[in-house]
Amino acid sequence: MDQSFENKRYAPIGVFDSGVGGLTVAREIMRQLPGERIIYFGDTARVPYGSKSKETIIRYSRQIIHFLESKGVKAIVVACNTASAFALEELRPEMKMPIIGVVKPGAKVAAERTYNGRIGVIGTEGTIGSQIYTEMIHRHNPHATVLGKACPLFVPLVEEGWLKDPVTIEVAKRYLSSFRESGIDTLILGCTHYPLLRSMIREVMGEQVELVNPAYETAQELKRLLLQHQLCNDGQEAGTPMYQFYVSDAAEKFKNFANSILPCEIEKARLIHIEE
Ligand code: DGL
Repeated sequence: MDQSFENKRYAPIGVFDSGVGGLTVAREIMRQLPGERIIYFGDTARVPYGSKSKETIIRYSRQIIHFLESKGVKAIVVACNTASAFALEELRPEMKMPIIGVVKPGAKVAAERTYNGRIGVIGTEGTIGSQIYTEMIHRHNPHATVLGKACPLFVPLVEEGWLKDPVTIEVAKRYLSSFRESGIDTLILGCTHYPLLRSMIREVMGEQVELVNPAYETAQELKRLLLQHQLCNDGQEAGTPMYQFYVSDAAEKFKNFANSILPCEIEKARLIHIEE
């Protein structure tokens, strides 16, 4: 890491996602690191990432990282599972500042918590197809059996606000039925939107299956990383806003969704042209 970043204690954390989903990660950072400022970018013009190619996700992520760097952030959190799966390791060598994704923290905790070594992972087609969770879990627990399942319909259902709707419960039963017979004792919610379906997934899977929320684990990991680099902010600089939000489209819709899940009220999301 570049030495110049060590004086950036008061700078914000850059957080990005394909859209609104990464707000579940921003929310955890707000809860666990209340002294930290955040600049969030949601790529609402180009969502979803989950069905796009690796090359495209790398290109999008690189553009967003350049934007966040131009805003003077001190560290970057790739809040999107798909971007963490496809772009993080490709882009890390280009980075001057610390960068983390959501996959590694979630995989590590699942590998540590399982008793019977059978772990389920749900995510987008991209994340599951990449096998990244399996690879990361095996780094910590080489004998674990990892079963993946793409659940693409969860994303639009969450964005529609159908968190407890009978249709969503039916979809969850269909997606999760194979897991219910597979003997997994741990299930990773490997997509930004899925923590918002947590209580419903718990109902379908039963109390005996531990649900791992990578958003929570990522905020923990971020705390460790900031401590390690002496980049923790214990309070804000006077006059600077704590949280700023940028999107590539549909700013009003983003703002409304954000206000339905964040612990604070946001006044606006600014529109930017990320391709320029
Ligand atoms: N944010 C994405 C993820 O966590 C889900 C939505 C999308 O497909 O873009 O993988």
